[in-house]
Amino acid sequence: MDIKGVVLAGGTGSRLMPLTKVTNKHLLAVGKKPMIYYPIEKLVSAGIKEILIVTGVDHMGDIVNLLGSGRNFSCRFTYKVQDQAGGIAQALALAENFANNCGIAAILGDNIFKASLKPYLKKFAAQKKGARVLLKKVANPQRFGVAEVSKNGVTKILEKPKKPKTNYAVTGIYFYDNSVFNIIRTLKPSGRGELEITDVNNTYISRNQLKYDMLPGWWTDAGTFESLGVANKLVAKDPPK
Ligand code: G1P
Repeated sequence: MDIKGVVLAGGTGSRLMPLTKVTNKHLLAVGKKPMIYYPIEKLVSAGIKEILIVTGVDHMGDIVNLLGSGRNFSCRFTYKVQDQAGGIAQALALAENFANNCGIAAILGDNIFKASLKPYLKKFAAQKKGARVLLKKVANPQRFGVAEVSKNGVTKILEKPKKPKTNYAVTGIYFYDNSVFNIIRTLKPSGRGELEITDVNNTYISRNQLKYDMLPGWWTDAGTFESLGVANKLVAKDPPK
């Protein structure tokens, strides 16, 4: 299956106020680059050349000014505006026409990975249908989607559980076949008023179609003051491949 990339770079960045009062979270510095460079470079180095960037209307102009056509990243960018922040799955729904029956590698614009994503893209392509996520053992699973697994795949994901049963965080790279768009149409907003990516993943689980790998190397998001600090330290000490 052909696979296209989607970088999800919307949201209000409320956990980083006032840094995000006049700009988009994904434009803030991590090391010597804007945050959004890292997920883009991960997709490109995995072999993905067609990339959709989804962001809110307020900062789309700045994002386009920064990224341009994609020529400087050796890829081609398409842009889509999310009118209102309504969750990761709502943003992903905007990729339907762009996907045009291809598979999708959707990455969160504030997630930074040390390891190459190429092996997992390959495994997903070989899978032919369903979905694939990457899990990482973390010390603070309450902050993330938390996965329970068996040897055949993921058996359950809870979004930010108070008492996590495992310490396997679901990282912000998601491989989906084209049925993801029909799944998103069935979702209802969660308690926080968003269409949750965890609900998408749990639908694949109910079909026995959510595979996983354990991610090697460090991983962090950069969406809180604490994690933004961690991201800056990790990138300086041990830059992504
Ligand atoms: C989101 C997802 C969560 C995932 C995390 C990874 O959380 O909802 O399942 O583990 O990204 O960064 P959020 O950034 O919206 O808190």
